[in-house]
Amino acid sequence: MVDVLLGLQWGDEGKGKIVDYFAGKYDIIARFQGGPNAGHTLYVNNQKVVLHTIPSGVFHGNTLNLIGNGVVLDPVTFRKECEKVSELGIDLKKNLYIAEKTHIIVPTHRALDKASELAKGQEKIGSTLKGIGPAYMDKTGRNGLRVGDVLSPNFKELYEKLKAKHLQLLANYDFSEDISEWEKDFFEAVEFLRTMNIVSGEYWLNQYLTAGKKVLAEGAQGSMLDVDFGTYPFVTSSNTISAGVCTGLGVAPKWIKEVIGVTKAYCTRVGSGAFPTELEDETGETLRKAGHEFGATTGRPRRCGWIDLVALDYTCMLSGVTQLVMTKSDVLDAFGTVEACVAYEINGIETKEMPYQINGLTIKPVLQSFPGWSEPTAAASSYAALPGEMKNFLSFVESYLGVPVQFVSNGPGRDQILEK
Ligand code: GDP
Ligand code: IMO
Ligand code: MG
Repeated sequence: MVDVLLGLQWGDEGKGKIVDYFAGKYDIIARFQGGPNAGHTLYVNNQKVVLHTIPSGVFHGNTLNLIGNGVVLDPVTFRKECEKVSELGIDLKKNLYIAEKTHIIVPTHRALDKASELAKGQEKIGSTLKGIGPAYMDKTGRNGLRVGDVLSPNFKELYEKLKAKHLQLLANYDFSEDISEWEKDFFEAVEFLRTMNIVSGEYWLNQYLTAGKKVLAEGAQGSMLDVDFGTYPFVTSSNTISAGVCTGLGVAPKWIKEVIGVTKAYCTRVGSGAFPTELEDETGETLRKAGHEFGATTGRPRRCGWIDLVALDYTCMLSGVTQLVMTKSDVLDAFGTVEACVAYEINGIETKEMPYQINGLTIKPVLQSFPGWSEPTAAASSYAALPGEMKNFLSFVESYLGVPVQFVSNGPGRDQILEK
C-alpha cells in the first residue's frame, strides 16, 4: 500500500522532518514530483541537512528511496547533494533508486527560467530559478531528456539538439550569460548519474507493492502551488496534490491508503502571488523571527501570516486528506492571542470557498481569535502535556476541516513530535 505525505499550504510546512520521522515505518520513500526547487530540512545526529531531490528517508538504514518519474532532476545539484549525504555515512548505491523516466534539467533550462523571470519584471513568479518551469515545459512539449537517456551512447547529440532549441528561445530575451561553465559541471554530473541505480520506477515500485511492502510518497512544494489548483500563475509546474502520486510514480489509485497532510500552525509563502492572511506588520515579523522563516533553498525571507482555514479546507478536499500533522505549533508560544482565518470577505460578501482567481482580488480575511498559551511547549513530551489553550485551537482546526490532527510537531528536532 501507499500512504501519501504532502504539504497543504504554499510549501515549507516541515514535510522533510515529518517524512524522516515516519520513514522507519515504511519500506520505501518515493518522491513523486518537483525538483531542486524543494528544500526539505531534517536533523540527523543534531546536524542540519537540507535535501532537494533525494527523498527524506535516506537516513534510515532499512528504507529504500525512489526518485519517481514525476520529478525533474538537475544532475549538478543532485551530485552535490549525494556527496553531502555520503559524507554522513550513507551508501546511496544501496538505498537510492532513480526512475529512468525522470526528466532532466539542463543548464539552458536554468538560463530560460532566469531570462523569463527577468522579462516578467514586477509580475515575476518569484521562481527559485532552478529551471523547473522550462524542464516541465519540455516534458509536456515532448522535447525533454530523461534519466534513461544518459545511458545512451548518443546522449551528447540529444543534448545538443535540445540546447539548440533553447538558444533560439534565449535569443528572444536580453540574456547573454556564458553557460560553458554550467555545461562543464553538467557533463561531469551526468557521468556521476550514470553510476547510480537507474531503474524502471513503475515496475520496481509495483513489484514491491505486490509483495506487500509499505510505501510513503513524499510530496514537494505545497497544494496551493499546484499547477492546476494553486494560485495560478503564481504556482510551480507540477501537480503537488495527491493526484500527482499516480502519474509521478506509476502506481494505481487502488494502492493509496492514508493521505497525511502537513500544515504549519500559521502560514508562510515565499515568492510572488496572493496570500490572503499575510501580516505585513510587526506580528508578521515576530512570526518570521520566531519561526526562522527563511527559504531552505534560496535563503529568501518567507512571507508570514495566520493559518488560513479556507485554503486548508480546499486543499484537504483536493487530496482527500485523512489525517493532519500540525508543525511549528511551538512558534505560536509567544503570542497572547492566536488567530485563524475562517472565511474570506470579498466585496462585502463572505465566502468559505476558494475563488477562481485570488490574485488581484481584495480579500479581507475573517479572523477568529483564540487565547494564546503563553508558555513554552518545545519540551513537551506528550500530547496530553500540551496547554489546554493549544488543544482548544487544535480542536477548532480539526472541526473546521473535518480531519483529525494526529500529530503535533513542537520543534525542528527529530524527537519533537507528539502523537495524539
Ligand atoms: P519542507 O520544505 O516542508 O520540508 O520544510 P522546510 O524544511 O523548508 O521548512 C521547515 C522549517 O521549519 C525547517 O527549518 C525545519 O527545521 C523547521 N521545523 C520543522 N518542524 C518544526 C516545528 O515543529 N517547530 C519548529 N520551530 N521548527 C520546525
Ligand atoms: P518545498 O518542497 C516553498 C515557490 C517559489 C515560487 C513558485 C514557483 O521546500 O516546500 P519554481 O522554482 O517552482 O518555478 O517556483 O513556487 N516554490 C516553493 N515555495 N517551498 C517549496 O518547496 C517551493 N518550491 C517552489 O518560491 O513562488
Ligand atoms: Mg522547503
